[in-house]
Amino acid sequence: MSNIVDIIRKKRDGNELSPAEIKYFISSYTAGTIAEYQCSALLMAIYFQGMSFKETTALMQAMMHSGMVLTLSRIKQPIIDKHSTGGVGDNVSLVLAPLIASCGVCVPMISGRGLGHTGGTLDKLESIPGFNTQLTVRQLTKQLSTIGVAMIGQTHEVAPADKKLYALRDVTATVDSIPLIAASIMSKKLAEGLDGLVLDVKFGNGAFMKNYRNAHALARTMIQIGKRSGVNVTAMLTDMNNPLGEYVGNSLEVIEALEALKGRGPHDLMKVTYALGAAMLRLAKIKGGKKLLEQKIHSGDALAKFKEVIKHQSGNIRVIDDYSRLPVARKKKIVRAEKSGYVHAIDTFQIGMQLITLGGGRRQKNDTIDPSCGFKIYKKIGDYVAKGEPLIDVYSAQLRVRNAVAKTIQNAFTIKKQHCKPKTLIRKTIA
Ligand code: URA
Repeated sequence: MSNIVDIIRKKRDGNELSPAEIKYFISSYTAGTIAEYQCSALLMAIYFQGMSFKETTALMQAMMHSGMVLTLSRIKQPIIDKHSTGGVGDNVSLVLAPLIASCGVCVPMISGRGLGHTGGTLDKLESIPGFNTQLTVRQLTKQLSTIGVAMIGQTHEVAPADKKLYALRDVTATVDSIPLIAASIMSKKLAEGLDGLVLDVKFGNGAFMKNYRNAHALARTMIQIGKRSGVNVTAMLTDMNNPLGEYVGNSLEVIEALEALKGRGPHDLMKVTYALGAAMLRLAKIKGGKKLLEQKIHSGDALAKFKEVIKHQSGNIRVIDDYSRLPVARKKKIVRAEKSGYVHAIDTFQIGMQLITLGGGRRQKNDTIDPSCGFKIYKKIGDYVAKGEPLIDVYSAQLRVRNAVAKTIQNAFTIKKQHCKPKTLIRKTIA
């Protein structure tokens, strides 16, 4: 019989946990029979000591089997999903899920909320009035059979261990750990009963993996886990030293995603979306690649699919043509460049943290989110900016917070006289 204090001590001292000990930890934590402080201590021990591949696989399996594993055998289309390791302004999923579904692929997308300084697909979707992300497995299966796509959060039915751990890691500074991220992502994704998975593994100062090497190691771990479970996984290593797209913040990112589905998405967002989308089509063995994806955007099919998603999940479809139905702060403060030059660096992590200060992310597990606040980003690394030109707008209804955040965010941009090359957005694809 395992004992949680012995397990914490064992990991604290750098020893390998057995699959039985990991299973005991996950099942007890899910059932609520070990305390949050004990779980926090174990997470911190894992954070510092790491986990072997064997331990990471056992953790993933215990988390995956903490709930139901879907069998979607009635669905005849290929079942493919995408997941990002998390970034700032990363609203790719909102565009990609309906886009890929409009190509005839089934996309059962189970996403997370904001985590640490990064945004979450669920929080973004919930800024659409009425949008329900908490479908039961029955409702999910029905929706997949009807429209081929659903965008939901973990319920107590699918990977409930991840749902609980995710929220705890968010507020205990235990997010940026390769085994914890790999087990978290792969447990909920493999519980979807997928044929294939595409991962957007981000690196840079706005990602959990600050450097390319660690991101590469994370990608490899997840690919290996997928292989062991018989699921084809493709990973793309993408740069997160800039926020993605032009907006950061829940409602603002929904508007940007709707614009993208109408054919007016910013270049970097579309580049990542098309690259990940083409990889999803390859896994689904559907020909056409980027051309097909562009065609689905320009024909309006992808937008029509998103409309179906919103409708089936009880959201207000009027937001599609009337953005004023989305909660967006009416007041903004423009932050201007204090000198002329080229943008050499953006502290993207700080932009994510300042979104939390505005109320657009969580400091504590049960914090509620203000979907109306956020940022518009005018300049990226490599861009020239003249003194007095806008760098970023700060959206918030609260004057004092708006001004304080504007002051801090000014320092997030490093501007120098010398030229600076833009970052390469997609560094590598591995499968
Ligand atoms: N996304 C997840 O789903 N889990 C993590 O741990 C990090 C990013």
